[in-house]
Amino acid sequence: MNLLTFDSGIGGLTALVPILRAYPGSTVTYLGDLAHLPYGTKSPERIRKLCSAAADWLLAAERRRGPSFDWCVVACNTASAHALDVFRSAAIGSGMKVSGVIEPGCRKAIAAKRPRTLILATGATVASQAYPRSLATLGYGGIVEQRACPLFVPLVEDDLLEGPEVAGIARRYLEGWIRPGDAAVLGCTHYPLLLPQLRELYPDVEWIDAGHSLLEMDHAPELEKPDASKPSRLQLFVTDDVASAERARRFLARMGLEDVVLDVKAIPPLV
Ligand code: DGL
Repeated sequence: MNLLTFDSGIGGLTALVPILRAYPGSTVTYLGDLAHLPYGTKSPERIRKLCSAAADWLLAAERRRGPSFDWCVVACNTASAHALDVFRSAAIGSGMKVSGVIEPGCRKAIAAKRPRTLILATGATVASQAYPRSLATLGYGGIVEQRACPLFVPLVEDDLLEGPEVAGIARRYLEGWIRPGDAAVLGCTHYPLLLPQLRELYPDVEWIDAGHSLLEMDHAPELEKPDASKPSRLQLFVTDDVASAERARRFLARMGLEDVVLDVKAIPPLV
């Protein structure tokens, strides 16, 4: 399978884990817009403008290669919340399916059958109301509450995934709000890497990794299985960044994907 993937950084690799496990031998062309990270603190207009440039770049990559990409995954929650239509419009005529992470995360949350669903996401994703809207459209009748957890992103970027500092920040966001029996959606690419610490603090919560649910979307099983005897290949394009190769390798190792063949290229900012 050939995938196009977009994220504001390299955290979007979390959404690729189940896909690369289910489809070993895949090739992924991934654009990480590190020059403009974080998206989660930006205005809707700015996010859409950045996504428009990213979508054009990715689709140009698609045209360069020929009509051989199967799936475009918008792994970034903030981009999925504000600009999924931008990616879909850019892909018209390519025959490629375009998926964001909001709807899969909501489906998984509904399947948990909990009376209360909490959304942990960036400020921009929370402000967009994309999660509550999608949950309502899909028929969820429980209570939905949201909270931005912006400090989780730099913690993960700095590889600080557990310990007293992480626990303290998590408690600051969640204590007094989260309750046993809740479903809690990790509505940001980076948050799933904090899952061991969050589970230790709040074990009686059903934690939902939005990106992990992508393969449960109804169109995913139609995809052809690639040659599993070959390793998956990840071509990572990052805007304006030099230290990403090392960080991406660390991310992949953390997620048990160290056998993925990684090629990192820095490109100038698109906007
Ligand atoms: N990738 C973003 C998301 O999933 C998190 C980082 C950012 O703020 O850009 O919402």
